[in-house]
Order: sequence, then structure tokens, then C-alpha cells
Amino acid sequence: MSYNATRPQFPGTRLRRLRSSAGIRDMVQETSLTVSDLIWPLFVVEGDKVEEPIPSLPGVNRYSIDKIIEQARYALRLGIPAIALFPRTPDELKDAHGTEALNPDNLICRAVRAVKTECPDILLLCDVALDPYTDHGHDGLLDGTIILNDETVAALVEQARTLAEAGCDIIAPSDMMDGRVGAIRAMLESQGHTEMMIMSYAAKFASGFYGPFRDAVGAGRKLGGAGKKTYQMNPANRNEAVREVLMDIDEGADMVMVKPGMPYLDVIRDICNATNVPCFAYQVSGEYAMLRAAGQNGWLDEEIVVEEALLAFKRAGATGILTYFAPIIAKKIGSHS
Ligand code: PBG
Repeated sequence: MSYNATRPQFPGTRLRRLRSSAGIRDMVQETSLTVSDLIWPLFVVEGDKVEEPIPSLPGVNRYSIDKIIEQARYALRLGIPAIALFPRTPDELKDAHGTEALNPDNLICRAVRAVKTECPDILLLCDVALDPYTDHGHDGLLDGTIILNDETVAALVEQARTLAEAGCDIIAPSDMMDGRVGAIRAMLESQGHTEMMIMSYAAKFASGFYGPFRDAVGAGRKLGGAGKKTYQMNPANRNEAVREVLMDIDEGADMVMVKPGMPYLDVIRDICNATNVPCFAYQVSGEYAMLRAAGQNGWLDEEIVVEEALLAFKRAGATGILTYFAPIIAKKIGSHS
């Protein structure tokens, strides 16, 4: 029997040795999932004591602000460090310019202030993008069918300022306009918000997997034409994702994100190899809906596949994951850190 260090050979090498008991499997495990990796997205709605199911996201509700505070406390009890808040803006407040996004008393700003007052230890992440506020459902301002880049960036800077003043911890530009991270960072510095973190949705693809989210925020699924393809990325592109990330880091992003998650694990790995900033994965609404539906039908064991999918993000190199399964998985794995 010979041992060849460069080319392990059977029977000197039997890879099953290191799989033979739970103890050794745990000891040689290369990556792990912990509760502190999780960011829990939550939907906010107007009203009091409201808990409104979202049919295309079974198990996910829209909550009024009083209930959002309860969820934030629940998250902390489970060891989840951060929540991401998304507003269901009343339709009558939506317009072509997304004006309500800039209202310092809008639903999201009131939610941010309430959560920060009642539950100050939770980290609050807020999207910067106009789609929950526009009647056409696009993330930016339109001239006919064209999404205007620089005009949109100006509006996003104001939206970010409003959110920073309301007291959120992490600004997350999710709109994919060019130059928005730099413009937002410049505003934050000039306004004294020097501690504000930016988690950029840097590599965000034009994806069909966002469908249930658009139901949740009432943004409508039928955008027509090119949809969001003139600003969100082509799912075929890998090199471009790294370019997007490098530019956002250069413009002042502290953390970056890849979205959707599971179909884009290669992109997460590329970004981790190319950069040294924390990179997050967003397991988006469509991914949640697929796993949940298969679980509910008995076609997959939800507990097993969800943990496997989340662990796969860590293996691909992700620092953490935004997931609607956050409380479920947190209960399962516990906060032993
Ligand atoms: C807003 C935004 C979207 C998501 C997060 N922020 C939708 C979109 O870009 O169309 C999707 C999240 C999900 O599907 O869970 N720009």
C-alpha cells in the first residue's frame, strides 16, 4: 500500500472515515450556519393589531407597527441580530414619482422610529428604491418607458436621508441605478451620518423569483416591456456582477449583496474570491415560496432543505443571509454562540 500525498488513493485514503460518526462529522465540518448569520425581512402595513397573510408567501404576514415591534423583540429573543423592513404603501399614496418615499412620516419611517424606541438593540435595515411607492411599480422615475438614472439617484439620496433621520442602522440601496451608492455616501457624510452602514444590493438580477415580494408590497407583477431589465442585471452574467460589486465598494458600500440567492451561488463565490467585504445572500420570496410549497405538499422535508439551502450560502462564501425562514431556522439551530 503506498501513500501519495498529491493524489490520495484508495484504500490508504477512505473519505468515509471522516463521516463515520456525528462527532467526527461535526469536527471536520468546513462551514456552519449560526443564528447571527440571519437577517429577517418583514412587511409593514398601516393599522393597529393587523396581521395580514400574504397568499403567495404562506406563513409570512404583513404586520402593523405595534406587531412589528413584537416581531423585533421575538427576533432578538431568538438571537437574530437584524430585521429588514418593507412597507405596503396604501395605493392612494402611490404616484408616478414615488413622492411618499420622501415623507418623513411615511409608514416605514414611523415603523423605524417605533422599533428603535421600543427595541433599540435590533439592527434595522431599510431598502432604498422607489418601487413600494410608485404607481407603475418601477424602482425609479420614468420618462415614457425609460427609467431615468440620474434623476432617480437624486430621489434615492433624499429617500436615504429620510431613512437615516428616522434612525435606521443600515441603508440598503436595492434599485440598481448607476452611481447611487456614491451619491448616498456623499450625502450621509455631509449630513453627519458618518456611522451609517450601507449594504448595497450590488449584484441584483432581473429575476422572476421576486413575484411574491411584489404581491407583498403591492407593487404589481405586470411591469410590461423590458420589466426591470434595463437596470437589474442579466441572469446570464457573472463577470459583470463582480464589476458591479467593485464599483459599489469603491463608492462607499460597507457590505454587498447578491440577489436572488440559490440560483446565483457561483456569483457569491466569485465575489468572495474577488473582494474582502462582507457579502450577503438574499434568499428571495420566490425561493421561500418554492421550498414552503414543496414542504406543505409533503414533497420535500422543509426543515432539512431550508437548513441545507442556507448552509449552501455559507459554503459559497456568504457572510450572512436575508431569509423569510429566519425565525423558523433560528428556533431549529438555536443561538449557542
Ligand atoms: C425592491 C426590492 C425587491 C426585492 C427586495 N427589494 C423587488 C424587486 O426588485 O422587484 C425582492 C425581495 C424578494 O423577492 O424577496 N427593489
